[in-house]
Amino acid sequence: MSKNFDVVVIGGGPGGYIAAIRAAQLGFSTACIDEWKNAKNGPAPGGTCTNVGCIPSKALLQSSEFYEHAGHGFAEHGIDVKGLGLDVARMLARKDNVVKQNNDGILYLFKKNKVSFFHGRGSFVKGDASGYEIKVSGNAEETLVAKHVIVATGSNPRALPGVAFDEKLVLSNTGALAIDAVPKKLGVIGAGVIGLEMGSVWRRLGAEVTVLEALPAFLGAVDEQIAKEAFKYFTKQGLSINLGVKIGAITPGKKDVTVEYTDDKGNAQKVVFDKLIVSIGRVPNTIGLNAEGVGLKLDERGFIAVDADCKTSLPNVWAVGDVVRGPMLAHKAEEEGVAVAERIAGQHGHVNFNTIPWVIYTSPEIAWVGKTEQQLKAEGVAYKAGTFPFMANGRARALGDTSGMVKFLADAKTDEILGVHIVGPMASELISEAVVAMEFRASAEDIARICHAHPSLSEATKEAALAVDKRSLNF
Ligand code: FAD
Ligand code: NAI
Repeated sequence: MSKNFDVVVIGGGPGGYIAAIRAAQLGFSTACIDEWKNAKNGPAPGGTCTNVGCIPSKALLQSSEFYEHAGHGFAEHGIDVKGLGLDVARMLARKDNVVKQNNDGILYLFKKNKVSFFHGRGSFVKGDASGYEIKVSGNAEETLVAKHVIVATGSNPRALPGVAFDEKLVLSNTGALAIDAVPKKLGVIGAGVIGLEMGSVWRRLGAEVTVLEALPAFLGAVDEQIAKEAFKYFTKQGLSINLGVKIGAITPGKKDVTVEYTDDKGNAQKVVFDKLIVSIGRVPNTIGLNAEGVGLKLDERGFIAVDADCKTSLPNVWAVGDVVRGPMLAHKAEEEGVAVAERIAGQHGHVNFNTIPWVIYTSPEIAWVGKTEQQLKAEGVAYKAGTFPFMANGRARALGDTSGMVKFLADAKTDEILGVHIVGPMASELISEAVVAMEFRASAEDIARICHAHPSLSEATKEAALAVDKRSLNF
């Protein structure tokens, strides 16, 4: 017997579970299907983000930062730590517990909002505008019938051609978050977000980390001035970042893995690593959906093809998150999930792609919203720039972290904020003010005239806005 729903969501990551909750809030009978399994074969909703992405990576970044502070940072505060030890198993267990709390939280939210949860793989059987039949296979075996379907099946790590992830020596994000002893020599291919975050974790815990990046520029999507500043800090911390390399043969042995590459000067290199993380981007996941069977169109890169409203090629079938175009970020997936549920309800769901913040959770953190200086130059936009260093911020000095700066870019004529870029302490939190300002199309002068608490890191934001008009007060 089939079960009927107004909305069936396939995938329970940030895009899917949030879409399901919003649809249920709007009064639709809603189901969410997710196949992720925990170690006991039970449900673990939350997708990549909760299980092997945002949440566990931030847990390990926090633990490793505490370890590094206890080892080096506390002494200048007059705090001597004797007999400092590291129990990686306990660190990983804590991380797993943080993940479980999030899995359980989502199951609780489903109950609270009356979302029916099915643990298994969802695939299209047949359907048209009058309704779709979705088969669930796995722990739950059911057939669901839906008026609307939201596909939120996420993404998978991209492997290097011919080099499969074994998660023991050649690691994707999954293996990188579960290394059970600090490797002596850790290789990382790809100096992107995962490479820098995971490289930072294991460097702080004592690994010698070598990052190999194909592009000649470091963090090409980041504002150049900010990327240069970050590069300085990362290399000073001991991350060896090699740009402009060409990866050759990768040979996993019994206990280590050999990487051959050509460096930026054209010299052949060969390095043996205890572990190798491959973080060269992610690919959309449509495995097992039976997209072709029902005529759900993919684009040339394998993403589900959608229009600006996340409508697919099939009537009443929508797709959100990593499986569609746009940045692969949890908060982007969530915004699309909410917007789609509201569009199904006939409302005007809204996602502003110009104000999606990016954060790299290294130390110092890097965060930005809007255009970079190089983008404005390429687009021929006349702009003014203002920067303020954390070195001149009292709270940063008290914290003992004066690295980095806040940078504002504003329209030369109207003073509207076009981009804000931060490298420094708590950049992930500070960027929200800039996102709000840009969402309301504020000017740099608006921020400059707002009273900010003293002493706070956010004063650096105000001062950078003042600097746009060459009026910073403390620098
Ligand atoms: P996913 O989270 O991938 O969820 C998809 C879900 O669908 C999965 O549970 C999957 O098992 C399930 N599924 C797939 N196919 C089926 C099917 N046929 N039937 C049933 N279930 C199915 N983003 C940030 O914004 N901030 C961060 O700090 C951050 N850190 C990250 C760190 C790492 C190491 C990684 C890898 C990613 C990180 N991301 C971060 C990116 C973020 O995880 C993704 O953008 C986000 O998870 C995308 O959400 P989604 O709902 O589209 O897909
Ligand atoms: P990425 O796109 O951030 O970085 C991949 C890097 O690998 C790029 O610099 C690229 O030039 C390089 N590269 C590609 N092919 C290569 C090759 N053959 N040899 C050497 N270098 C090569 O991808 P990453 O780090 O895998 O992360 C995937 C996505 O996950 C991110 O783009 C982001 O959307 C999301 N994510 C977000 C986080 C956050 O918001 N804090 C944290 C981690 C991941």
